[in-house]
Amino acid sequence: MSDPRKAHEQEPTTHFGFQDVPESQKAEKVAEVFHSVAAKYDLMNDVLSGGLHRLWKRFTIELSGVRTGNRVLDIAGGTGDLTRKFASIVGPTGQVVLADINDSMLKVGRDRLLDKGVAGNVQFVQADAEKLPFPDNHFDVVTIAFGLRNVTHKEDALRSMLRVLKPGGRLLVLEFSKPGNPLLAKVYDTYSFSFMPLAGKLITNDSESYRYLAESIRMHPDQETLKAMMVEAGFERVTYHNMTGGIVALHRGIKP
Ligand SMILES: C[S@@+](CC[C@H](N)C(=O)[O-])C[C@H]1O[C@@H](n2cnc3c(N)ncnc32)[C@H](O)[C@@H]1O
Repeated sequence: MSDPRKAHEQEPTTHFGFQDVPESQKAEKVAEVFHSVAAKYDLMNDVLSGGLHRLWKRFTIELSGVRTGNRVLDIAGGTGDLTRKFASIVGPTGQVVLADINDSMLKVGRDRLLDKGVAGNVQFVQADAEKLPFPDNHFDVVTIAFGLRNVTHKEDALRSMLRVLKPGGRLLVLEFSKPGNPLLAKVYDTYSFSFMPLAGKLITNDSESYRYLAESIRMHPDQETLKAMMVEAGFERVTYHNMTGGIVALHRGIKP
């Protein structure tokens, strides 16, 4: 008979922040984080980025080239910042799908968008970025904002996003990245590992989730590595733009 402890030992591991965990446990741990932060997610985004996340997202919309009538997938869409903007641009002849793996985040997103009068052209779908439940060649634009670093198998997710895009369709990956300037990197480190967990503790009574945020940012592939992963997944004309000194980068790739 096989020894279950040995099976566990053989399982590949991945990082959850700075911890090494069996791959099968990462999604559950990420889910705990987002169940915990969902209710105060929007407030914390403004506090921690000083409102800058709004500019990063605005640039993402601009670079997506989205037009009236387009079909857009906002994967890991959370509370719906990008979805809301896309919905007003694509209009009643277009469609936006806000997909997220986490039902707490989806619920906050759905309630918030309904409160803001966004409804007719938006669908909410619980889905894993690694296995998107949509047809091939379906979307003009796919976005994943601050989501990819939480995904266990990033290569699978990138291939899945490529599959659901139409030829000529664009993937936009907005994510924390590596600051270029060593001085900025040092200041940012202090900010991330001291202020972020403290703000988490004071505002949400949850410093652990914000420690995970800081750690997961450090473990995420840097600009060039993510670019290479997108090329490897099959995207062409992959470029990236650093924002706020490289604290955040926006990668774009086109489906051939
Ligand atoms: C930091 S939030 C970003 C939300 C939103 N895109 C934004 O920029 O404000 C990350 C989101 O990724 C979602 N997520 C994590 N892993 C995922 C996966 N494998 N598939 C889909 N969504 C995932 C989380 O549930 C969470 O809502």
